[in-house]
Amino acid sequence: MTVVTSPPVDSPGRDHQDAYAVSAEFYDLLQAERDEARVRSLYRDDVGRARVGVVDVGAGTGCVTLMSLLESRVPVHAVEPARCMRTPLMTRLASLSAELTTRVTVHPYALDEAGLHGVADVAVCHNTVACLHPAARRALWPAVAEALVPTGVLLVQLPPARLPRHETTHALPIRTVGRHEYGGRMVTSADVDRIRARFEYWVRDDGRVLRRHDETFWMWPATRTEMIAELERGGFIPLPERSDPSVLAVRRTRP
Ligand SMILES: C[S@@+](CC[C@H](N)C(=O)[O-])C[C@H]1O[C@@H](n2cnc3c(N)ncnc32)[C@H](O)[C@@H]1O
Repeated sequence: MTVVTSPPVDSPGRDHQDAYAVSAEFYDLLQAERDEARVRSLYRDDVGRARVGVVDVGAGTGCVTLMSLLESRVPVHAVEPARCMRTPLMTRLASLSAELTTRVTVHPYALDEAGLHGVADVAVCHNTVACLHPAARRALWPAVAEALVPTGVLLVQLPPARLPRHETTHALPIRTVGRHEYGGRMVTSADVDRIRARFEYWVRDDGRVLRRHDETFWMWPATRTEMIAELERGGFIPLPERSDPSVLAVRRTRP
């Protein structure tokens, strides 16, 4: 099965219904373990300092949302427009204690459609902006600024700075569930001004492939300097560089 997921240029960010239709089945199985450790090390201290709320922009299956609930005592807003990703997100939240679920609200919209005003002093945008068409990306920053209180902080995982020179293959971990093995790979390559990221998944039984699926996403590169300029126009000022340069921290300018 092949699904190509690409935002139409004339209505960026509005084609969310079927995005991740293939990948959602495999997402947590093949990526969550690594992602959980990574988001904890990248954002735990920031969400631990939150006193108003945390916004998880592009919550996906809820990796940052869960970490934010565990590491803070404030309300958490999980913003996730794609139904296919919200489904595992809701399943993850359903397994939590009432103390945690009372603090989390799921917004089934793109952030600029969610109507959030001053609900948080920390916003996290992890593994999300790379997949946004530049027009959709630029539309995101004023919406993040609006969702934050004055002086609120935004943490953005930066997109790739440039197009890849060669096709690159990255193997996903192999996981066993009962009699079956699950695995896959991500193949990235340049396509004019975009990066094609093709996720290929397989399920095997005793070495025999039972099924294969793939889904293609598009990513748009932007350098750190370009991102800072864009965020400044969107109402933010950069904070000092962090120990991990893959994340850019910016603060909302006062109105
Ligand atoms: C690659 S997933 C990453 C999910 C999660 N942050 C993670 O790291 O596992 C990116 C998510 O951003 C969501 N997204 C795309 N545009 C968005 C927007 N304008 N506002 C909020 N979420 C958006 C997508 O639906 C998708 O679930």
